[in-house]
Parts: sequence; C-alpha cells; structure tokens
Amino acid sequence: MKINMDKIIRALSLALDLAQMSALDKNNNIIIEEVSNINYSKHIFMNHSKRACYISLELAYSLQLDYSTIKELYISSLLHDIGASNFFSQSHSYPNFIKDHCTIGSQITCDFPQFNNLSTFILYHHENYDGTGPMNLKGNDIPLISQIIRLSDILDLLYDDSKPCYMQKESISNWIKKHTNIIFSPTLVQAFLKCSSKDYFWFNLENISLMDIILKDFLPKFDIYLNLDEFEKIAHIFGNIIDNKNKFTARHSIGISELAYNVSRHIGYDNEKCLKMKIAGLLHDIGKLAIPNSILEKNGPLSKEQFSIIKSHVYYTKIILDKIEVIPDISDWACNHHEKLNGKGYPRALSSNEISEESRIMGVCDIYQALTEERPYRKGLSYKEAFLIMDDMAKNNFICSRALSYLKEAVTSNN
Ligand SMILES: [Fe+2]
Ligand SMILES: [Fe+2]
Ligand SMILES: [Fe+2]
Repeated sequence: MKINMDKIIRALSLALDLAQMSALDKNNNIIIEEVSNINYSKHIFMNHSKRACYISLELAYSLQLDYSTIKELYISSLLHDIGASNFFSQSHSYPNFIKDHCTIGSQITCDFPQFNNLSTFILYHHENYDGTGPMNLKGNDIPLISQIIRLSDILDLLYDDSKPCYMQKESISNWIKKHTNIIFSPTLVQAFLKCSSKDYFWFNLENISLMDIILKDFLPKFDIYLNLDEFEKIAHIFGNIIDNKNKFTARHSIGISELAYNVSRHIGYDNEKCLKMKIAGLLHDIGKLAIPNSILEKNGPLSKEQFSIIKSHVYYTKIILDKIEVIPDISDWACNHHEKLNGKGYPRALSSNEISEESRIMGVCDIYQALTEERPYRKGLSYKEAFLIMDDMAKNNFICSRALSYLKEAVTSNN
C-alpha cells in the first residue's frame, strides 16, 4: 500500500492548526514571549501552518531554490510548530515556550521517514540572524530553510485577519525591512520584497480559506509515497502528541494501538490489517487536539455543552483522517470507537449492522484502556475489574460481546 506524503502532511498540519485553535482561551490569550515586540498573545492561529507554508513557498521561488529543497521546505513549514501542541495544552504563559517547542519539535521528528533534516530545520526555526535566538545560531550558520520559516512565521503573526490587506502591507513590509540583519538576512528580505511587491501575494494572504486551492496550483507534483510501516512511524509521533496533550491519559493512544494490534493478531487478521488496526489505535483520538484542555482535564461532571464539545473529537478525527483519502478503513475504525450497538453512540449514531468488527474491536479496546488507566479521582482498575464492568456493557447491548471475548483472550494470554 502506498500513501501520498503530501496528503498525510496536510492532514496532520490541519490537526496541528486545530490544536493551536483549541489552546486559545476566551480572551484569545496564548503563549507570551518573543523578541522585538511581536505579539503572540493576540494572534489567531487557525491556518497558521498553511499560511506559513504559502509564504515559505513564495520566498523559495523568489530565491530560485531547487526542487528538492522546496519539497523539504514545504514539509518543514507545515510541521514547524509540531513541538508546540504540548505547551498549548499546559499553560498559556509557559516561560520557555519558544526554546522548548523548538527542541521538542526537533526531538519528536528525528525519525521522520524520508526527511532526515526536518528535525534540524524545526530546531532552528526561531533563530535570529544576529545570533540572539534561542540556540544562538548566527548568520548563515542558520539553515536556509529555518530562516525562511522564521520570516514566514513572523509574517503570519504580523498579518491581521480583521483588516483588509491593503491597509497593512506597507507597515508589515516596513517592519520586516527594519529587522534586516537583526532577525532576517539581507538576501531573505530582498526575496520578501520581490514577492510582496505583487498584489496577488497579499490577496492570497487575505483569502486564507482558499489556501488549499492556492497551494494546489503552487506546488510542483509531490511524488513521495510512504508504505504502511513509514506511515506507522508518523502515526506514532502523533499518538504521542495526543497522549501528551492530557496528563491523565499519558499512554492512552499507544495503549490502544497495542491492544488493537494484539487482538488483531490473535484472531488471525493478515499482517497489513494488523498494522492498520495499530495505526487506527494510534490516531483514534487525534480529533482531541481540537478540544480545549480545560474540558478534557475537567475534574468533575461535565455540563451538557462541555460533553457535546468532547463528543466532537471523533468528528474531527474523521475530518483529519479522510484528508489522506486512501485509508477509509483506518479512518472508519478510528472514528467509530464511541459508536454503540444500541444505536446511541456518537458521532453518527450508527446501528449495530453498520458497525464493523474492526470498529467494535477498537471500541472495546478504548473502554478497556480507559478503565485500566489511572485517573485523578481513581486508580487504574485491574483487568478482572475492568472485564466485570465490560460484561455488563455487553449485556446491555452497548458493546459487542464477541469483540469483548477476543479482547479477553488476547489480554489474558499476555497476563
Ligand atoms: Fe514556532
Ligand atoms: Fe509558527
Ligand atoms: Fe475517544
């Protein structure tokens, strides 16, 4: 099986943008700390990675970079804030945010398939040309791709969605020119001035909702394909990001992926299907990136409104995974884990004959993993205690008794 890398990266950058959105509190306050008076606190991050990507590509064409560098820049700019999702959930004023999200982003991408340098580009994406950035790299020691992302990132922060582009292009251009040799290299500023002299550059920034169409015409053909093993590596990175978002579920996605894989092997699914079940487990809660942590971590009963927001996580899981297009099976198994045989599950309230065996297995693995995990208000249950509760659920037609017995066999054979 071959999966187009471009589709994977776009799906995941959507997940990251949703994570940044969900980190905004009612006052739109977000991470504070930066040089040169850039105000991160008022910025709306929806489409941040897409807009940074578009600007990066414009700069790359202006600099006449070669095709393979452009591809690396494309991936790096879409994923440049991959290390930030942990912090958005933890604190709105985390003191070392800038340095730490670069380091973490670099660490979690060090095994990224096909793009060995991604980790380095992410590490240095907040460096200043004069050497005053978080890692104190200076001048052209900073990789060019990181320099380009730095300018694109700042340009997106300076850009104000609430104003028409003609009202701000001059002030933004002046700001960037003023920081030549401080934040940006003279070459990069020249490249920016060249592409920003065209009206269409600003119209594109203004029409952020059309960015998919804009990027489609803009990118050269993206001919990198991943096999399932490589896709699993990326799914693992995102499984960790999801698990780190909530301190009470530190191994939830990884745990479910192991359970789903073990059950799949136990009942004799072929190797490809076992691997797909593992990936579905890793990504089943990716939509939780779109849910504010204040709700995910609430210690106490949820209001009706909060519960309906929580329920949307599986809706987002499907939106994100369907962007990859060639994995409708993984997408279904992942997003159906809260469906119930009695038709009262979510998000689609499927009836029992619409819930596949694979989705039923994912559902029981999810419940078992949750019951055996520690929570702030209780210890993790033993497997015997968890199965007692799940027996009742099967009796009441919530979950599938056959899937439950597969799970019991797989778990007890490992205990
Ligand atoms: Fe960043
Ligand atoms: Fe950024
Ligand atoms: Fe879930």
